[in-house]
Amino acid sequence: KKIVLAYSGGLDTSVILKWLQDHYDAEVVTFTADLGQGEELAPARRKAEKAGVKEIYIDDLREEFVRDYCFPMVRANAVYEGQYLLGTSIARPLIAKRLVEIAHETGADAVAHGATGKGNDQVRFELGVAALDPDLKCIAPWREWDLNSRTKLIEYAEANGIEVAKDKRGEAPFSVDANLWHTSSEGKILEDPAEEASDIVYQRTNAPEDAPDTPEYITIGFERGDAVSINGKPLSPATVLTKLNEYGRIHGIGRLDLVENRFVGMKSRGIYETPGGTILMMAHRGIEQITLDRGAMHLKDELMPRYAKLLYEGFWFSPEREMLQAAIDHSQRHVTGEVRLKLYKGSVTVVGRSSPATLYSLAHVTFEEDMVYDQKDAEGFIRLNALRLKLMARRKRVLGEN
Ligand code: ARG
Ligand code: SIN
Repeated sequence: KKIVLAYSGGLDTSVILKWLQDHYDAEVVTFTADLGQGEELAPARRKAEKAGVKEIYIDDLREEFVRDYCFPMVRANAVYEGQYLLGTSIARPLIAKRLVEIAHETGADAVAHGATGKGNDQVRFELGVAALDPDLKCIAPWREWDLNSRTKLIEYAEANGIEVAKDKRGEAPFSVDANLWHTSSEGKILEDPAEEASDIVYQRTNAPEDAPDTPEYITIGFERGDAVSINGKPLSPATVLTKLNEYGRIHGIGRLDLVENRFVGMKSRGIYETPGGTILMMAHRGIEQITLDRGAMHLKDELMPRYAKLLYEGFWFSPEREMLQAAIDHSQRHVTGEVRLKLYKGSVTVVGRSSPATLYSLAHVTFEEDMVYDQKDAEGFIRLNALRLKLMARRKRVLGEN
């Protein structure tokens, strides 16, 4: 038996690695992805080697992650429940895809992950795997084993020669998931939604009150809905996001404290930091403002919550997400141009937009005398739109309703 494990190198997945080797008597292949989480990957290799793993995959997926997952989501303006920018949701399908590819390359018959039985991530991994290989088995040790307390986990680690970092010996104060798009923190000291999160939770943004007192202006260039440059300098997708993360960090942009509805039914409270993503989403709206037709924009806005829910609930590799994506991508043909933004103490504001494909017509909108728009046309326009309202109002009067 051979199992490909999504392996971070941390304590939990190190215990999982050993447990799979013992409990399933399996050869384990480890897969560690660089999604821009900002952690050293060398320790993951070293620990996997020490555990006797022969096939170790360590992949830099940053460009693919931003280009093929984050950017399509930005084109949709995807936001879950009005606020969550989906940073964990969007990373899971890519990890699932690589797990399946590696299983095929190594001839493995199962994949395994370290998500618990209470969350969204298990669903996302496993729906992704199911969609890409209907025969591959998924193993979720958290749903199977009895190491369900920190103490038991650490005992198991120590009994099996797994390194336990000094600061991991005690309870971690909360659980973190990070990538180039965001950092999320949940659980433990964050579980009471009435209590403000302590400053130690925030890891990649300045507090807005500590951010510079002078605003900074930047310009983002878009082509067909994707960011391609900053301040006139062409950049790759991952480089654009890395750079925007730095601006966002400095100016304290993209912090969020949210109680959301998990797919499995419970509510959960999370602290999110999405510095570059918050800037990018605002900028994308800015360029759409002048390049998208109203009908297209309003339809996109109606579809967006559906798209965001699909992403949140793990249905990235589904026909309905792909259908929506095709429509959304089609709408982006003319979403090209530049957006100027003001960054200041936690806020990002669009202050200028320009495009060779603009639909904005100064000739039409001006309050000065113009030659292209006849104000008299508005009279009939309003009269016909008012017709049914007047019929209703008359009926109300006849029936004596109010
Ligand atoms: N609640 C967020 C989501 O479902 C973040 C999940 C964080 N995952 C984690 N393994 N810590 O997308
Ligand atoms: C987990 O349960 O593994 C993390 C939280 C989530 O997936 O929602």
